[in-house]
Amino acid sequence: MKLIQFASITKKIALAAFGLFLLLFLPVHLGINLCLLRDDGGEWYRNASHFMGTNYIVKVFEIVLLASVLLHICLAIYLTIENWLARPVRYKVRTKTKTPFMSRYMIWTGGIIACFLVLHFINFYFVKLDLVQGKYSASIEQVDKLFQQKAIKLQQGELNEKEQAALMAQYQAISQISPEKMDKSQKNMVNLTKEEVIQYCGEDFKHVEPDFYTMSKELFANKTYSLIYLVVFVVLGFHLYHAINSLAQTLGLSHRKYSPIIDWISVFYAVLVPLGFAIIPLWFMFVK
Ligand code: HEM
Repeated sequence: MKLIQFASITKKIALAAFGLFLLLFLPVHLGINLCLLRDDGGEWYRNASHFMGTNYIVKVFEIVLLASVLLHICLAIYLTIENWLARPVRYKVRTKTKTPFMSRYMIWTGGIIACFLVLHFINFYFVKLDLVQGKYSASIEQVDKLFQQKAIKLQQGELNEKEQAALMAQYQAISQISPEKMDKSQKNMVNLTKEEVIQYCGEDFKHVEPDFYTMSKELFANKTYSLIYLVVFVVLGFHLYHAINSLAQTLGLSHRKYSPIIDWISVFYAVLVPLGFAIIPLWFMFVK
């Protein structure tokens, strides 16, 4: 019996530890996403996105993060089933339990967030993994640089026939690019498929990163998606509020003196973070 209890507590601590990691991730993710609101045609956001997509420490962090999400979900399901099975009279009488009101709904609010993550990954993350078609962009400055390098090679006779033909085709395609494929600043080609990027910029661009700025703008121009995201952010608030209180309890921090402070921190975090996320769809729906 003691062994079962010990195993259960260990799982609860692990659930809390993975949860804590996710709590630390959210403000970082929010900070980067808030760059979407700058009126600079997405420059800040693309730079932040580029840093996050290429930095090796961030790449390791991303793997740990995805593992934490998965393990947090698996442990939550496991512990909930274990709890249900440990309550033999659950179908007969609905007694008033000591379980706080919100904690009974954690598995459901968590389930909604997990479903949201599937949708969210289809919207964004799977594009990065090339599992879903996305939108791409290329900076004119970068393309110009590449053309200049190739022009020098052409003058020095370093390009074979196939490379010369490819360069000509690229030049022709780019000179006929339609105005709606240029952004407001005229600094970037936007709204391109990966095939178009290669057509305009050549094979050197085959590892181009997705343009999450254009994709977010397009996603939130769709009111159904914006509404789904907004509803999920409210649910996320409830989940986070109870999660922080529960985490403190698991870490042994519940004390008459500290509990009110922890409760305030939970309210602060659970309101501020989802509200910050909610500003983004609201901004694209009503301001942009
Ligand atoms: C308006 C709100 C949001 C926007 C615009 C947004 C945007 C994005 C984008 C563009 C990516 C891909 C980034 C990349 O891989 O380089 C991403 C990934 C991700 N998002 Fe969000 N996100 C939002 C809210 C959320 C929320 C509320 C959660 C958690 C409940 C979340 C969890 C994740 C996770 C786990 C990843 C994959 C890891 C990563 O790439 O960093 N996102 N999001």
